[in-house]
Amino acid sequence: MVVGVLRFNSDLYNNTLITELKELPYLPFMRDFILRARKGPSSPDFSLDELGRAGHMEIVAHCITNALFYSLNIRTGVRVHIVFDGPAAPPKTVRIESDSLGSLGGFDERALAGVIKQALQAGLHLSLEEEVQALDGVYVAKRSFESLVRDFSARGAFYTMQKRGTDIRDLEFAEDAAVVFSDHLSMPKKADRFLIRLGAEPLSVGPKMLFASQCIALVHNELDRQGLA
Ligand SMILES: C[S@@+](CC[C@H](N)C(=O)[O-])C[C@H]1O[C@@H](n2cnc3c(N)ncnc32)[C@H](O)[C@@H]1O
Repeated sequence: MVVGVLRFNSDLYNNTLITELKELPYLPFMRDFILRARKGPSSPDFSLDELGRAGHMEIVAHCITNALFYSLNIRTGVRVHIVFDGPAAPPKTVRIESDSLGSLGGFDERALAGVIKQALQAGLHLSLEEEVQALDGVYVAKRSFESLVRDFSARGAFYTMQKRGTDIRDLEFAEDAAVVFSDHLSMPKKADRFLIRLGAEPLSVGPKMLFASQCIALVHNELDRQGLA
């Protein structure tokens, strides 16, 4: 279902509508996870039977699971933004919003990769800085990592996940945290420097290099323990 096209201006949550009135509201108390999938496919021509060959789409699926779900529940107030920088039409950013989510057809790797595939299909003909809704709570934009994080840096609390960052236990989180991390590949040094220049605070969840999805669970847990929305 494709219901409209949005064009970005400089404010991420104040998009200008082109075809249909559906402005993205600014929502306080929101947790935003920004995953950079460096080899993740930016077009839908990948096989659900070979997720490993699709830039390790199974890692993206694990991140979505840990961001949106906990036992028998969907979290409220969570958005996952996945930037796909791999072939064949980069960049593409898929955003999944927990509060308006319809059925994803399950939360196994294949089902979630299927949702991404549908989103990328809906976004095939987007021009730069355009966005379209693909499914309930699922949007796809032709938008780069740099453009996305620049908007978050202008909003406030903004963290980049790094093993050598500030210990998460020494940090008092802001209510609406935005957290950036990479998939199985490290963030390019240039992007690391860009994030720091934008004011992102490096954040560590511990001494071991973990899977990105494990970092999400730990960040959620810390925010839950601090009693943040
Ligand atoms: C699987 S790791 C990337 C591994 C990659 N080979 C590297 O050396 O960066 C995925 C991402 O999770 C985050 N991450 C992993 N362990 C972390 C830790 N202990 N503290 C903070 N972030 C971590 C980082 O953003 C990292 O880029």
